[in-house]
Amino acid sequence: MSRQTAVENRKSRLIALRGGARASREKGEVWLVGAGPGDPELLTIKALRVLKGAEVILHDGLVSDEILSLAPTSAQRINVAKSKSRHTLPQEEINRLLVALALDGRRVVRLKGGDPFVFGRGGEELQACREAGVDCHVVPGITAALAACASAGAPLTHRGLAQSATIVTGHGAGGADPELDWAALARPNHTVAIYMGLSMAAVIAVRLTAAGRDPATPALVVVNASRDGEQRITTTLGSLAADVAGVRGPAVLIIGEAMALADATTAPLVQSVLREAAR
Ligand SMILES: C[S@@+](CC[C@H](N)C(=O)[O-])C[C@H]1O[C@@H](n2cnc3c(N)ncnc32)[C@H](O)[C@@H]1O
Repeated sequence: MSRQTAVENRKSRLIALRGGARASREKGEVWLVGAGPGDPELLTIKALRVLKGAEVILHDGLVSDEILSLAPTSAQRINVAKSKSRHTLPQEEINRLLVALALDGRRVVRLKGGDPFVFGRGGEELQACREAGVDCHVVPGITAALAACASAGAPLTHRGLAQSATIVTGHGAGGADPELDWAALARPNHTVAIYMGLSMAAVIAVRLTAAGRDPATPALVVVNASRDGEQRITTTLGSLAADVAGVRGPAVLIIGEAMALADATTAPLVQSVLREAAR
């Protein structure tokens, strides 16, 4: 964490503790905004509008600098980044901070990678706001699996290859094996998109094949989907663990017959009008 971010975090906690100038200001509101997978062009027009009106932004580590730069320079930025091993702010403190800032009269944007309601803990933040009587609005975002599939040209559902798709977490509580319905996930003609599953790829492959999924089932891994440095790996369930060994970064693992359509050879289409305009 940078020194500036640490100072901002401390200041915000003080505001939260003191209740700030609550008495003299109108009640604020919280916006839970999906920032999409990274490419600013995948931000919705609504997300952009809300971001431009932000007074305080609490953002994740997955939100790109390009997107943050779209907010007014006057907006206070607080990095509440989380990772499996490092919690900058525990979730309960984030909830308290959102509520306190809104009660202090601020227009608060909680900016999250992808969609706030897909493994984003947006539901807990919404509940905290509701319980405190704070107005909270949700702006959906493009979730990582959709960006990964779009990038590779592999549809999540496809006539004759995938009649359904399931999004699961590959990360069990406290780093344990994910507790998933392996039999259901092993059904053929069904796509399984796994978030936070890179370090568990070997376990996932073993569980799925033990439950009956064919090891020859096509698989796609997209690292940093829609971001600079996007990487795509096409493989099979049987080779998944070996093919992702040593791979780092936010990644989705997508397993299913429809992943036979995935293309790992074309250059990533990480384009941005903003980046072009900046040249
Ligand atoms: C805590 S979850 C947040 C998911 C997010 N709310 C969403 O809707 O995409 C973090 C996981 O999302 C996935 N992820 C997020 N952004 C990604 C990206 N640009 N490329 C690949 N995977 C990504 C990875 O599996 C990562 O470990």
